[in-house]
Amino acid sequence: MARLDGKVAIITGAASGMGLAGARLFAAEGAVVVMTDVAEDALRREAAAITAETGATVTARTLDVTSPQSWADVVSGTVAEHGRVDVLVNNAGIHIAKGVLEAELEDWNTVMAVNTTGVWLGMKSVIPHMQAQGGGSIVNVSSIAAIIGGEADAGGAAYSASKGAVRSLTKHAAQWFAKDGVRVNSIHPGSVFTGMAAAAGFTKESMGAQLGGNVPLPPHVGDPEDIGYGMLYLASDEAKYVTGEELVIDGGWTTR
Ligand SMILES: NC(=O)c1ccc[n+]([C@@H]2O[C@H](COP(=O)([O-])OP(=O)(O)OC[C@H]3O[C@@H](n4cnc5c(N)ncnc54)[C@H](O)[C@@H]3O)[C@@H](O)[C@H]2O)c1
Repeated sequence: MARLDGKVAIITGAASGMGLAGARLFAAEGAVVVMTDVAEDALRREAAAITAETGATVTARTLDVTSPQSWADVVSGTVAEHGRVDVLVNNAGIHIAKGVLEAELEDWNTVMAVNTTGVWLGMKSVIPHMQAQGGGSIVNVSSIAAIIGGEADAGGAAYSASKGAVRSLTKHAAQWFAKDGVRVNSIHPGSVFTGMAAAAGFTKESMGAQLGGNVPLPPHVGDPEDIGYGMLYLASDEAKYVTGEELVIDGGWTTR
């Protein structure tokens, strides 16, 4: 039996990086995977590739996590097509490298809308279905920027605040919905080489070299799959007694 057999999972920001890695692992472990993103072309291309690789049921649905209507469309479409939602991975996120003094209100609001409001809207959209079906698992991708400062937030004040909010929102929801069998956990990646890092001008090697002083475990930068395996564990029934937990995957950065 595969680790996610019979489960229907929605993943946001699944067109690249950690969300894509999670989608590939979930499909390989037997889940029906609903991959969502605003980047429609990449999303459809990657969903088709995973279907070809795994033979799993993988669908691509356009979702802007900041839009309540977009969430309503995706969740109602998923329930109509697959009958249920067992797992939500709130992974979509953006980063603006501006500190407290440099950021403008628009920068702040843009980051908070995707990274924090998007997570709340996702939970608000799926939890009623999870309650009705007797449980589910929500995995919110935060960051070590929710735990420590310095290079961990790559200079983003709103980013740091938005991820701190995801950490506490996770614990709030874990408490209030445990009675319904809904588990809510957060993952806190450290440095991981993904599209976000590439857009910031890094190669995996340059990122590792720059951050090596912070991260004791070579190669000092993680792969998207390192986070995908965390998503897989928290989504699965292996974590059936785990809620409100923060899973740090950072090569040891926060242990300094
Ligand atoms: N890369 C890192 O080092 C790192 C470290 C800590 C936390 N994180 C977090 O991990 C998560 C995944 O990041 P990644 O590095 O894989 O980034 P990525 O840029 O590779 O992927 C993020 C995805 O989110 C999508 N997205 C952006 N805005 C969206 C919106 N409004 N609605 C729906 N989708 C949207 C993008 O199109 C993209 O496909 C993010 O929440 C990020 O903040 C990343």
